[in-house]
Amino acid sequence: MTEAFALELGGDGVATLLFDLPGRKANIFTRESLAELERRTQELAERRDIRVLLLASAKPDIFIAGADVDEIAGVTEPAAAEAGSRYGQGLFSAWAALPFPTVAAVRGTCLGGGTELSLASTWIVVSDRPDLRMGLPEVQLGIVPGWGGCVRLPRRVGLIAALDMILQGKGVDGRKALAIGLADALLPDAGFAGYAREFARSKIGAPLPRRGPKGLRGVVVDANPVGRAFALKQARKRTLARTHGHYPALLRALDVVGRGLARGEGEGYDAETRAIGELAVSPTTKNLIHVFRLIEQSKKSGADDSAPPPEVRRPAVVGAGVMGGGIAALIADKAGLPVRIKDVRPEALATALGHAGELLDRRVRRRRLRPAEKRRRMALLQPTLEDEGLEACDLVIEAIVENLEVKQGVLADLGRRAPGAVLASNTSSLSIDAIGRSVSGRERVAGMHFFNPVDRMPLVEVVAGPQTSPSAIRTVAAFARRLGKTPVLVRECPGFLVNRLLAFYSAAALWLLDEGYRVEEIDGAMLEWGMPMGPLRLADEVGLDVSAKVAHVLQDAFADRLVFPDWLDRLGAAGRLGVKSGLGVYRYDGRRERGVDPAVYEAIGRPATKRPGADRSALADRLVLPMVNEAARCLEEGVVEGPGPLDLAMIFGTGFPPFRGGLCRWADGVGLAVVVERLEALTATVGKRCLPSDALRRFAGAGGFYAAAT
Ligand code: NAI
Repeated sequence: MTEAFALELGGDGVATLLFDLPGRKANIFTRESLAELERRTQELAERRDIRVLLLASAKPDIFIAGADVDEIAGVTEPAAAEAGSRYGQGLFSAWAALPFPTVAAVRGTCLGGGTELSLASTWIVVSDRPDLRMGLPEVQLGIVPGWGGCVRLPRRVGLIAALDMILQGKGVDGRKALAIGLADALLPDAGFAGYAREFARSKIGAPLPRRGPKGLRGVVVDANPVGRAFALKQARKRTLARTHGHYPALLRALDVVGRGLARGEGEGYDAETRAIGELAVSPTTKNLIHVFRLIEQSKKSGADDSAPPPEVRRPAVVGAGVMGGGIAALIADKAGLPVRIKDVRPEALATALGHAGELLDRRVRRRRLRPAEKRRRMALLQPTLEDEGLEACDLVIEAIVENLEVKQGVLADLGRRAPGAVLASNTSSLSIDAIGRSVSGRERVAGMHFFNPVDRMPLVEVVAGPQTSPSAIRTVAAFARRLGKTPVLVRECPGFLVNRLLAFYSAAALWLLDEGYRVEEIDGAMLEWGMPMGPLRLADEVGLDVSAKVAHVLQDAFADRLVFPDWLDRLGAAGRLGVKSGLGVYRYDGRRERGVDPAVYEAIGRPATKRPGADRSALADRLVLPMVNEAARCLEEGVVEGPGPLDLAMIFGTGFPPFRGGLCRWADGVGLAVVVERLEALTATVGKRCLPSDALRRFAGAGGFYAAAT
């Protein structure tokens, strides 16, 4: 078998251990590569000719991406998970005890076990490339760092910085790593290997570094048990408020870190191992790994296309409103392409440029972007009131008003002007087929449905009308990926996938309001369930006028089962439009929410008759089960390719809680037979809008959504 590590010793006593996992793009700790590292470490411990050892990666963008997720996924017994944690801890302790200093030379991504091995090294140097990330993302998989990270990180960077890294699970760049004391030197990326070697050579015979947080924080928090306890308590409070206790790994990480600091390294390692034993086999971890895999699969899909789509070089956006402005900014920022942005109103163009500038400025302030780079990206935006210049475009994204006749006219015109372009509409409720009706070459018309706010929502629904060609779909999907988005392929239907499912959720919320439940109870139920915001707060965000319009479109399409209360239009009347008008179901001060508007009940003519203290999990059921019911229909109709893409779309398009694994996976976990029963029970009380669909019954008969897909 080809080896993953190669050792080279220079005449000056500087040795380099180069990690290059054969056949893989990333260095990861598989069972085999760990065993090899163990063997190497044992051999190294005997060497007397090495004066300093440099650990480096042969992969251009990755140092070490962490442990093999498949290994974690496959663990079913706590004892096996504990053994895995003990093994890594032992190996990294042996690495830390080598008889010469070690230097981790981190260039590119360094995650999980990679960071833990770096922490076990004497020194860490990092490159200044802006995309470098060094971190401990274990909590994102529902576990805690289990190879000594919970013990070593706080000792190196202090409790507060360590908690930031472990609880957020996000990596830091090189500059931040240096600032918090994680790295000892920030080296230029060009010529990094040479600088790192020079650093290592300078450490031959040098005294060992004195670690630990310095300054006021070091005295008040790290060196003071009362300060530490206070910091841990505060972090716990914040975590509970943020997660409603749905991510047990976060609370365990706090316990483990606290124990390691209070009782010493040995007890810290023991606590880490116990936490891994319990967490690695938990349903939350299995769900989060499921989501991780869905994301990985989605990145890969399309990569093996026999004929890769033609590369987009000259994109244009028509309509510079909220969405079009955001999309054009994204193209300049992420694809680095010049982009024409056309509107009929000069003020719309000015606003769009203003917003793009603000977004980039924010990154400049956070030192994520250099000012010169911001100017370069802004210069890529080419605002225009004219149609000239669209001829040469290969992709035109349409984001004008949501009006079928207007869109048809504009698309037909675009089709004539840009005969070679794929025409992608960002419509949220109109038919792609209808929009493209008068376009010559209808097969090049597709949907490219972004979500608001464009810069933050990771999903793009790539919609195929009955005439859309596979090549147009591939072009749009590949371009969405290039913009950093996750495309999910959807077959045309009213509301496409996400808004269609959300319509059932939102109708259920309005019916609860109709029954006399308070807004706080309805939205609170979903917040506790894990959604980032409640359905009524979401309606305010979308705009109550827009929500009502979409509701009517979908009610017409699914009249047999989707019904909204007849007071729906009253909700969005009299200037009560949601966040944008400062008043909706809630009140707002700018974008800041100021609590439920007590007058909302009067506005809809339905008093809040139910006492506070409703069974929130029953309420959540009433909101989520109708979506499951409709998801079954979507799958059976082939609106989406399977439960995996459906789950990914819901997570990335609505913030559906990842710890539940996705809508279908959650429903499978409850058991579809139970879902059917609960819907039947609801039908008995609220009527046929909750009637389980035949599709759902068939999936239940097949043992679940995922079982039916395999
Ligand atoms: P908007 O009203 O903010 O912007 C529309 C822009 O199109 C305006 O600036 C208008 O001047 C311009 N326009 C109108 N006719 C035009 C023409 N013939 N040529 C060039 N420009 C023209 O609307 P918004 O919210 O940006 O929506 C645009 C599209 O995106 C709609 O189809 C909407 O359904 C869809 N969408 C909206 C979302 C949202 O949350 N706002 C989310 C996803 C999709």
